[in-house]
Amino acid sequence: LKHAAPAALHVAIIMDGNGRWATARAMPRSAGHRQGAESVRRVVKAAPSLGIGTLTLYAFSSDNWKRPPREVALLMRLFRAHLRSETPSLVENGVRLSVIGRRDRLALSLRAAITEAEEATAHGSTLHLRLAIDYSARDAIVRAAALSRGAGEMSREAFAALLAGAYGSRGTAPDVDLLIRTGGEQRLSDFMLWECAYAELAFRREMWPEFDEGCLADAVADFHSRQRRFGALPGARSA
Ligand code: IPE
Ligand code: IPE
Ligand code: MG
Repeated sequence: LKHAAPAALHVAIIMDGNGRWATARAMPRSAGHRQGAESVRRVVKAAPSLGIGTLTLYAFSSDNWKRPPREVALLMRLFRAHLRSETPSLVENGVRLSVIGRRDRLALSLRAAITEAEEATAHGSTLHLRLAIDYSARDAIVRAAALSRGAGEMSREAFAALLAGAYGSRGTAPDVDLLIRTGGEQRLSDFMLWECAYAELAFRREMWPEFDEGCLADAVADFHSRQRRFGALPGARSA
């Protein structure tokens, strides 16, 4: 097993800065969201060759409902349109798509597009792409806690499985190895609070629409230069 391939990485991205990217170019915020979809295409295409096995993208937080109805409606239309138009290329590239988050507040047409995309891509094994829509990490944790009531003592692994199941995702995902946030802000905005317990954090200055495969490669290279200790001493090997 000397040359065993390194385990595939779980990279999660908070795709922030669409609005500011557009505003800086005297364009409406919607133009930033449209351009952001191009960045999604680029990172999904580049991910497998960078050793990424799971890619979780924060597309819409549960707090984003507080935005003006017009912006929310545009985002929802973009999600539906891109889910439909991208599904064939996801299938072709072996990408399995899952959507995580609440579904009960999404329009029926979007829910249908999600189900269709998930079913069409179910056999993809090159990359697990997880799109977070109407997602709140705290809400997910509260739901899992409610599900675990009465279960008595529970392992972290068992709770993680409940957490994944509680939130519409089929199958669990490994802990996040690398969390990237574009747009210059340095906060988590209620994203993957449990799964990021030991994630390496990368805050990037690029706005999401300008984030490309080179930026992703950079962030992954930087990740590989870090020493993860998980609370142990430097150089110590875990069993
Ligand atoms: C991220 O970009 C996309 C969503 C939150 C849906 P923003 O829309 O937050 O862009 P900024 O942060 O206002 O520039
Ligand atoms: C986080 O970005 C949510 C997504 C990128 C989908 P926000 O723009 O909503 O976060 P805050 O409001 O700056 O914390
Ligand atoms: Mg933002």
